[in-house]
Amino acid sequence: MIKKGIILAGGTATRLFPLTATTSKQLLPVYDRQMIFYPLNTLVKAGIRDILMIVSPEYSGQFLNLLGSLLKKRGARIVFEAQKIPRGLSEAFILGEKFIGSDSVAMILGDNIFEDDFSRQIKSFKSGGHVFAKKVPDPERFGVVQFDKNGKAVKIVEKPVRWISDYALTGLYLYDKRVVEAAKKLKPSERGELEIVDLHNFYLKKKELEVSVFEGEWLDAGTVDSLLAAGNVVKEKGLYKNFHPLVEESIIEFNSELKEIAKKRL
Ligand code: TTP
Repeated sequence: MIKKGIILAGGTATRLFPLTATTSKQLLPVYDRQMIFYPLNTLVKAGIRDILMIVSPEYSGQFLNLLGSLLKKRGARIVFEAQKIPRGLSEAFILGEKFIGSDSVAMILGDNIFEDDFSRQIKSFKSGGHVFAKKVPDPERFGVVQFDKNGKAVKIVEKPVRWISDYALTGLYLYDKRVVEAAKKLKPSERGELEIVDLHNFYLKKKELEVSVFEGEWLDAGTVDSLLAAGNVVKEKGLYKNFHPLVEESIIEFNSELKEIAKKRL
């Protein structure tokens, strides 16, 4: 069972310039609420109440305003850690070393929206690694997993130049505590990042990586077009209605607080 979660919400978001010249990508709206509520909801729905949020230092105040006290009084603890330079997804586990301690952890990307509920996999996790794959039309953009004829993961490659499979690895990763030491040993890739694929391969080599395929929507709101598309899918499929009460009530209360402040200004 996993009880701790990390939301990785830093990065530079160059593909969303100039929108992200004034705020963080994960604070941009997806239909009627900030993007960050989606990955937060995925963790909260799975029973996670202890969360480390990794953010860029320039926007930490905005994240704190939005998420600071409202979740806490409902029993969810969020602590923040600044990532000064975006050194790659795997750095989350180095920055999170103290937070993780000797527990397993679920890491989710702050710009990934999942329709599926991963409670079962998060609650039944024991050890090793567990990641989630989805069939996509453009696998060359992602970390890709190849399966053998029994559906077992055999190979994982970051942005493969030659086709190996249509299954992309999505932004939710379950790992046991060994991930911290494994992340510390990684060397930056050619693009200068500590790659998450290297951590998958660390567990794959030990035959301790489970890869599950899921069918529901997976929205990655990293470009202006995918951000717009994400908002439309969320609206059409009603995904914004599917929030855990803890998160939904916090959003409503935040909203009414803002209205009070606005009234006082009149
Ligand atoms: P990306 O979309 O790969 O990177 P980015 O957000 O910096 O965007 P761009 O490619 O347009 O410049 O990141 C995926 C998620 O992980 C996103 O929520 C940002 C976050 N992230 C970090 O917090 N730290 C990092 O070092 C990296 C690489 C990403």
